[in-house]
Amino acid sequence: MVKETSLVLAALGLLCAGPAVQAADPIEGLARTCNNCHGVDGVSAGGAMPSIGGQSEAYLKHVMMEWKSGARASATMTRLIKGYSDEQIAALAKYYAGKTWRPVVQAAGADVLAQGKDATNRCETCHGATGGEPDEDDTPRLNGQQARYLELELMKYRDDGFTMTHKKMLRNARRMDEGDITTAARFYGSQSK
Ligand code: HEC
Ligand code: HEC
Repeated sequence: MVKETSLVLAALGLLCAGPAVQAADPIEGLARTCNNCHGVDGVSAGGAMPSIGGQSEAYLKHVMMEWKSGARASATMTRLIKGYSDEQIAALAKYYAGKTWRPVVQAAGADVLAQGKDATNRCETCHGATGGEPDEDDTPRLNGQQARYLELELMKYRDDGFTMTHKKMLRNARRMDEGDITTAARFYGSQSK
């Protein structure tokens, strides 16, 4: 009895979602925790919080499993994701991939739009002209993603203190200076398609 209670408490502590774990549909219950930060249906309400609804299942699963194994670094998600089983992670990836990608369009000036085209020239083959047409399943959408998030993420790909594993993306990010990074992030953030 005592053991059971403490297990339940531990689970609640990990998930930060008391009532949610009792929801009728288990995946909706799990997702409620994520939506607290990532927004309803995984559409970000702003700031440095990324939208996740509508990214590919392969990408979402890959990123979460890398956090769990420690192959990838995140200040917030690494600790949180360790509380989930591989099956729950797979189910969450499938759930969010089943949502529609809804770009959160952030206005940008004509200068950003013009310079952004140049700054993202090399990125087009994989991400598409506006970040909305990933060429592969492992490539995330960038159009209408939160610009502040994209900027921080690009800085992470360049920072040896963070472990990021995708070699081609690492090479591309390391060839950008900080000005290009800010411009590229704001360019993608302003794209609706
Ligand atoms: C306390 C807030 C918080 C909660 C709860 C949370 N996340 Fe996150 N998540 C973040 C932040 C902040 C980032 C981006 C920065 C980072 O990676 O640390 C992120 C990043 C992500 C990314 C990477 C997005 C990308 O484009 O690469 C995925 C996938 C993700 N979270 C999935 C989830 C899932 C699934 C859940 C629920 C099990 C969840 N998150 C719960 C804060 C949260
Ligand atoms: C060879 C293909 C390729 C090229 C070229 C490329 N990317 Fe990527 N990009 C990827 C892949 C694949 C990922 C996911 C990598 C991972 O899992 O860490 C990614 C991830 C990203 C992310 C993180 C998004 C998120 O949701 O966390 C940003 C931002 C990004 N790319 C921007 C760029 C920019 C800007 C350029 C050009 C300077 C570029 N990429 C060039 C394939 C590419």
